[in-house]
Amino acid sequence: MAHFRALSAGSRRAFVACVLGFSWYTRSMNSNKFYLTTSIAYTNAGPHIGHAQESVAADVVARFYRQKNDDVFFLTGTDENGTKIYQKALAEGKPTQEFVDEISAQFKNLKKLLNLSWDNFIRTSDQKTHWPKVAEIWQKIEQAGDLYKKEYEGLYCAGCEAFVREGDLKNGKCPAHQKTPEKIKEENYFFRLSKYTDKIKKSIESNELSIAPDSRRNEALAFLERGLEDISFSRPASKLPWGIPVPGDPPAGGQVIYVWADALTNYISGAPTKFWPADLHIVGKDISRFHTIIWPAMLLSAGIELPKKIFVHGFISVDGEKMSKSLGNVIPPDQLVEKFGVDATRYILLKLLSFSEDSDFSFEKAIATYNSDLANELGNLVLRVLTLAKKNTSPPCHFERSEKSLSKVKGSLRSSRDDISKAIKNLNFQGALELIWEPVKTANKKIDELKLWELVKSEPEKAKAELEKILSDLLAVAENLAPFLPETSIKIKKQVEELKVGKPLFPRI
Ligand code: MSP
Repeated sequence: MAHFRALSAGSRRAFVACVLGFSWYTRSMNSNKFYLTTSIAYTNAGPHIGHAQESVAADVVARFYRQKNDDVFFLTGTDENGTKIYQKALAEGKPTQEFVDEISAQFKNLKKLLNLSWDNFIRTSDQKTHWPKVAEIWQKIEQAGDLYKKEYEGLYCAGCEAFVREGDLKNGKCPAHQKTPEKIKEENYFFRLSKYTDKIKKSIESNELSIAPDSRRNEALAFLERGLEDISFSRPASKLPWGIPVPGDPPAGGQVIYVWADALTNYISGAPTKFWPADLHIVGKDISRFHTIIWPAMLLSAGIELPKKIFVHGFISVDGEKMSKSLGNVIPPDQLVEKFGVDATRYILLKLLSFSEDSDFSFEKAIATYNSDLANELGNLVLRVLTLAKKNTSPPCHFERSEKSLSKVKGSLRSSRDDISKAIKNLNFQGALELIWEPVKTANKKIDELKLWELVKSEPEKAKAELEKILSDLLAVAENLAPFLPETSIKIKKQVEELKVGKPLFPRI
């Protein structure tokens, strides 16, 4: 230290800059990249709580890896080409581009509504960013000899944006969309999907391509076991004018690229090259096959590395029913935010509802979760502790501050932090939140058992020690909460560090 003081002010500044620069350099050298994506939503209708849950889940993962100082890229966006959207715009009597612009904007607005931290929002109608990449990958697949033309007759479900088999229908209708598929006879380009059966199987079995949860991995392997058939990879532009033209095809009488081949490519067109391969794709169970089978086959054909992991989530129903326009039970995320606020909405989506499994939403259950976990347990604890610490102790409480102290923490808190990380990495958000809540519950119990409000008067030193422990636990809780409830985390840290009693974080409903 004496040596340091002996330096001139200029040299000291240079020394500090050097140390800071070096630590930044080593950090950036050591930092891992983490690239994650959600699916991209169709722009035939606005967002509902199913879309919101997927986005918030991805957001928690993105914030978690940023907290670890990883170089994170989080991509989301909208899927705007294809039959379904073209037909919907026609039915609404709007020019297709105008129609998709309006709906895409609603999805983009989720960033503000739900406090999402994505880095890019890709739109597949974007001819500058997305289209050239799609054409490039199409050409790579073509050069691999994996595209051929074939006269084809089949049943097309616009809801699935896929040809379906007669045997998969129920009473002649697609079970997922309750619609009779269209009989189509036309010449298409076909993709040699069958060629990749073994390679995909091997990558899944070796976990080079990891699929979670296990049930979804087994499903994909069972599907591969039955053998793959080649699939139609384009539609005639004369029948579907809303799509990306097949490169090299004549503009008139040519073909447009199959909407799934176009949409899947967003994961490459939407992020800087250095982030590929994706570390994690998060998608729903209805589109698992497109991601676990078709996407890897396209990449293998084009000679591009496979993504590392695909996480397949379940579906949300409402009051026991499938969310659907015709039933009129579709819940847009705005309704939740209006009632509960942003952070509480994020909490409800990931704590009340399972992510990996199907689960059921009701306002009654959401209110109960809000009141018990957020209003009574967390909100009330912060209020009680700060009120006690503020009013009844002099000199003021002193406690271990911020992250630095956390890394020194040993024992139960440390191990629970590792367990929380593990749960988040496995996208087990309910499990992670339960672990985060443990010290909250313990602290509430302790306050009641010790009758802390009396203890501050009868044994102020003992009370102060207890309060200090709870305050420092609260800082750890705030740190762990940051990916889930970013605003609340900041509020708790600020109130605790300034020993300031704020407004109730979650007023009872
Ligand atoms: N456009 C395709 C995805 C292309 S990705 C290259 C698509 N769009 S979608 O709008 O129908 O669905 C977007 C996401 O929301 C999908 O992951 C889908 O599984 C998910 N969900 C749709 N309905 C859902 C629920 N009811 N519950 C939870 N997630 C649901 O598929």
